[in-house]
Amino acid sequence: MRSSTAITALAVGASTVAAAATKRAVQTVSVKGNAFFAGNDRFYIRGVDYQPGGSSDVADPIADADSCKRDIAEFQKLGLNTIRVYTVDNTADHDECMNALADAGIYLVLDVNTPKYSLNRADPNPSYNDVYLQSVFATVDAFAKYDNTLAFFSANEVINDAKTSSVAPYVKAVTRDIRQYINNRGYRIIPVGYSAADVSENRLEMAEYMNCGTDDERSDFFAFNDYSWCDPSSFTTSGWDQKVKNFTGYGLPLFLSEYGCNTNQRKFEEVSALYNTEMTGVYSGGLVYEYSQEPNKYGLVEISGNSVTELDDFTALQSAFKNTPNPSGDGGYNQTGGASGCPAYNPPNWDVQDDSLPAIPQGAVKYMSSGAGQGPGLSGAGSQNAGGASSGTATAGSGQPTRTGTSGGTNTASGSATSSGAASTLKVSHELALAPFVCAAVVLVSSVFGAALL
Ligand SMILES: *[C@@H]1O[C@H](CO)[C@@H](O)[C@H](O)[C@H]1NC(C)=O
Ligand SMILES: *[C@@H]1O[C@H](CO)[C@@H](O)[C@H](O)[C@H]1NC(C)=O
Repeated sequence: MRSSTAITALAVGASTVAAAATKRAVQTVSVKGNAFFAGNDRFYIRGVDYQPGGSSDVADPIADADSCKRDIAEFQKLGLNTIRVYTVDNTADHDECMNALADAGIYLVLDVNTPKYSLNRADPNPSYNDVYLQSVFATVDAFAKYDNTLAFFSANEVINDAKTSSVAPYVKAVTRDIRQYINNRGYRIIPVGYSAADVSENRLEMAEYMNCGTDDERSDFFAFNDYSWCDPSSFTTSGWDQKVKNFTGYGLPLFLSEYGCNTNQRKFEEVSALYNTEMTGVYSGGLVYEYSQEPNKYGLVEISGNSVTELDDFTALQSAFKNTPNPSGDGGYNQTGGASGCPAYNPPNWDVQDDSLPAIPQGAVKYMSSGAGQGPGLSGAGSQNAGGASSGTATAGSGQPTRTGTSGGTNTASGSATSSGAASTLKVSHELALAPFVCAAVVLVSSVFGAALL
């Protein structure tokens, strides 16, 4: 997120409308090769980043049903299928907003961290602790039940220059832990990955690193922020052609977690490249930064009280999306997918000496079998120095599902993944996804680590 220091209060109206008890139409999204699929159809993220109030106001934008529904009308005008939310309150009720989003065919990519419950890049080891993971897992618990939860970001922009690449093992450990937690709790296999800052010195290394090593340590996708296309530009002028070249053969779905340079007048010309076959063999779309106008001036709309005013950038993005359908067929994705090699130690740009990861903090192991319980929400005391830190190095394969949880049924899903992406043809209803027994069956079919291995 582009930082700003001013604080903007988000006016929220009282929620009065009860959630409709209708069945949701949205299909779950899963990974096949280096792409996302909804059913048999390739899924491209056509989205915006959504956090009214910005980085300095930690209001949960999807806990208030009225503002959520107000903004869904705008999302639909833009033709979106996805929003990204950076911060939620894991004690709040999100049913009404999530169901309204599902009714509109809109998915959620969710950051599981909050400002107070996150890794500390300046001193990562104490911040990777059981109090922190409890909050993260409680957020997973709150959103795993929705069919339109598309993916979780395990962390956002923790590495923000060359030398902070030394923190990468912690990011990877958290990603491992979330994936293990999802498996152990018997949830649908929701993709988990990292959202990287726009750091040219180690972008490719970070992508490879998150996809190297044993299967339990590998992500389900990789995303990065990219502000390098500043209109007027082109596929070659922006250098995006070189990024496509460099990422060709990367075995996971790749997408832009933030884009939309605002140096000059925005026409969002990059949209016509992003959803064109010159990129879709390697990229799966992206998220425009950002929906609401904040002090850093990337907004598409101005929110004032309960009213929303569309800005020029809104109209520009709306017409860019309208003029850019998805490619027909599968967009040239790579069905094989697979692991990368781990990048070589090369300080300062890549300051990671070997492939070992910190072990899960001892105090957090119990959540794998008993669940996380109630989260701390946004008013908790914070986690960065609050808990028992990780001590020691993980053994390879330590993040494999252990399936000792009570919600996972009797089937064991440990061992290697064998599946086929058949999950993408399974449509699990909201109701069924909550049933442990059915869940366990879905886990078996959909493979432990996602179809990315195939
Ligand atoms: C692509 O990879 C080459 C070789 O590693 C590197 O020099 C170049 O900076 C990369 N380009 C981009 C845009 O990432
Ligand atoms: C497809 O992915 C595999 C595994 O990452 C890679 O070896 C292969 O070169 C890729 N094929 C293409 C056409 O990019």
